Amino acid sequence: MADSKRSAKVVLDGKEFDLPVMSPTAGPDVLDIRKLYGQADVFTYDPGFTSTASCESTITFIDGDKGELLYRGYPIDQLAEKSNYLEVCYLLLYGELPTAEQLSKFTTTVTRHTMVHEQMHNFFRGFRRDAHPMATMVGVVGAMSAFYHDSTDINDPWQREVASFRLIAKLPTIAAMAYKYSIGQPFVYPRNDLSYAENFLHMCFSVPAEAYKVEPALAKAMDRIFTLHADHEQNASTSTVRLAGSSGANPFACIAAGIACLWGPAHGGANQACLEMLNEIGTVDRIPEMIARAKDKNDPFRLMGFGHRVYKNFDPRAKVMKESADEVLGLLGVQDNPILQVAKELEKIALEDPYFVERKLYPNVDFYSGIILEAMGFPTSMFTPIFAMSRTVGWIAQWKEMISDPQLKIGRPRQLYVGAPRRDYTDVAAR
Ligand code: SDX
Repeated sequence: MADSKRSAKVVLDGKEFDLPVMSPTAGPDVLDIRKLYGQADVFTYDPGFTSTASCESTITFIDGDKGELLYRGYPIDQLAEKSNYLEVCYLLLYGELPTAEQLSKFTTTVTRHTMVHEQMHNFFRGFRRDAHPMATMVGVVGAMSAFYHDSTDINDPWQREVASFRLIAKLPTIAAMAYKYSIGQPFVYPRNDLSYAENFLHMCFSVPAEAYKVEPALAKAMDRIFTLHADHEQNASTSTVRLAGSSGANPFACIAAGIACLWGPAHGGANQACLEMLNEIGTVDRIPEMIARAKDKNDPFRLMGFGHRVYKNFDPRAKVMKESADEVLGLLGVQDNPILQVAKELEKIALEDPYFVERKLYPNVDFYSGIILEAMGFPTSMFTPIFAMSRTVGWIAQWKEMISDPQLKIGRPRQLYVGAPRRDYTDVAAR
């Protein structure tokens, strides 16, 4: 619990109210307003929560000015270079990097949960083949509470643990099934002899008709993408998971809510929207036209993959992703991909344009990820499902932290009501 030895004063109608100031490990101090309504009979007002700390957390920290992202204190660029996704999952869930024995046990447990209940195959068949994979994932993950009812009691620590393993392990299988279903190919069962990233590529791209060999360098790039997307403080989808969890909803329902929120183009849907934007731009000579549209207040168009609520400097994940794009496209022999050239030129022009510089708009995690995923063979509709399966561990870590918080209360914001004052009903004849 962050301590509070200092306080701030609010003076309202001549009365003074003390607000304790709490100091974090890193980041801005916070004013504790929990008692303000009871003492001063006023709410605070912060649409979009731009200046509000919704919880106390020990998991992830972002310094938006420095462009720094820490998972349990470890910088994302070090983890992306030296760690791997399952080790990062352990770190996010338990707070420390695992020993070799702990990692081996954790990996074995996750591996052994990758299959889904066979009857889930029928569940998929209720969807149209052209359903967006995110629509399928929202439905199937929500339905997990029907298939795995024995791990839905949030008050049982063991059931919370089992549900966490099931979600981390089965999300790739479900995402791959959503992809296979959308292209009319048979589902591919997971294999326990493959790593997490190798297994996902295998379940997406292998077919029964021939042997499939996972390219190790592509599996490593896939694993790095999972790591870069694993957690990110109290973003919209994580806040959705926390709010759903605060009502006591089961973990599968909470993660399904997070997936639904992530789908929005302002959030996790931006990777698909960004690649579609780059493809629409098509060539470098059309960039000035799109930059002009992005700056035009009368045009709803925004530069997808640019800007961020917290980062007012480079998104450190975008830096790693940009390096990875060069590496993966080079490996696949498509380094002269015109879309990558458009992206690099767009980034260069935007970062020199006063509109973007003044507003501190930089490429975010979604700007380069789609270029890599498309080069790997994924359709744009699979970009956000890959984001969702990567972020599942972050959502679970944040949900577990909230559930075990002794201060847990149901989330219930108030409002600034500006509607009609009390008035009496009038009969239709009198209107
Ligand atoms: C993710 O929160 C997270 O951590 C999310 C995420 C995670 O890992 O969970 O990092 C993942 O969602 C990354 C963001 C992906 N979204 C996009 O790339 C979509 C494009 N970006 C924008 O929609 C926007 O930048 C947001 C939504 C990301 C942030 O919006 P904010 O913080 O609410 O900022 P804002 O809308 O108030 O913009 C401030 C100004 C405005 O101009 P003015 O009114 O001051 O004149 O900047 C402009 C905006 O019009 N602006 C943009 C812009 N983003 C902001 N103008 C053109 N293009 C853009 N992309």
